[in-house]
Amino acid sequence: MNKGSADSSKLFDEIIKLKQEKNALILAHYYQQPEIQEVADMTGDSLQMAQFAAQSEADILIVAGVFFMAETAKILNPTRKVLLPDRDAGCSLADSCPPEAFQDFIQQHPGSPVVTYVNCSAEIKAMSDIVCTSSNAEKIIRSLPDNEPIIFAPDINLGKYLIRQTGRQLILWNGSCIVHENFSIDKILDLHRQHPNALFIAHPESQPHILKIASYIGSTKGMIDFVKRDPSTEFIVATEAGILHQMRKSAPHKTLIPAPAFEDNTCACSECPFMKMNTMEKLYRCLLYEDPEVHVAEPIRVKAHKALQRMLELSN
Ligand code: 13P
Ligand code: SF4
Repeated sequence: MNKGSADSSKLFDEIIKLKQEKNALILAHYYQQPEIQEVADMTGDSLQMAQFAAQSEADILIVAGVFFMAETAKILNPTRKVLLPDRDAGCSLADSCPPEAFQDFIQQHPGSPVVTYVNCSAEIKAMSDIVCTSSNAEKIIRSLPDNEPIIFAPDINLGKYLIRQTGRQLILWNGSCIVHENFSIDKILDLHRQHPNALFIAHPESQPHILKIASYIGSTKGMIDFVKRDPSTEFIVATEAGILHQMRKSAPHKTLIPAPAFEDNTCACSECPFMKMNTMEKLYRCLLYEDPEVHVAEPIRVKAHKALQRMLELSN
């Protein structure tokens, strides 16, 4: 197990010790930095994190992810203390759907069932009939009666993908993820010319013209599983670069190339600034001081729980 530098190795050991003392568990998303994924008790996509949180009997759940993921854990398991290492770790997609505006949107389409992607606030989940993640969105849309259009929010790119996959009529909210909207088709095609045998795989939060050229489209877990099982040895990967850590672990002999974004950053790949707000130091302090804690007002929690529970039942 790679614990990183000497400093982070010390923090790693301190975190393990504190976790045991406090009966705490760490849930990490695949977009977290490698050290955080390594110190965590589970690493997964949004669905796996929600399933794990719902069943956990630990006193403390630390969500190494973003705010909506910590809220989801609290909604599903309200008697546990839920912590988030950086209170400001938000999400552009969740922020693109403010509750008042979404309430108006729902009222404009009376009678339509409301499906929301888990990347939204607790208030938005409370207005929903059912929640979905990128792992189960298709199944959830198909499970609804096909005689009326369905409101789908907040991700317009995932919504367009679901329309293409299911043939269903969806009324789409216009939200998006800053990371997945930033892939450059020209740079991806250039890269593909340099690696003609590489398969291009993408997350469904990416734009339609990006998804059109993908050989596989799926959630972060779906992408990791695909790379492992597919006989190809080279992949261009269009999602947040944190995923490469688990992909390398599960398919160590394969070549993984992060898909390039419009604006080159230092690693020439795509990083979510919100996910990367979490650090080992913040994780340690959060566990030590049991702060920042995430709360959800009970009337909102109860409604949001119903929509999340329906999703979990359909995902088994
Ligand atoms: P999944 O890991 O559920 O595919 O979600 C990706 C994402 O953008 C999380 O913020
Ligand atoms: Fe939100 Fe996109 Fe970051 Fe996921 S990658 S947390 S959808 S901004």
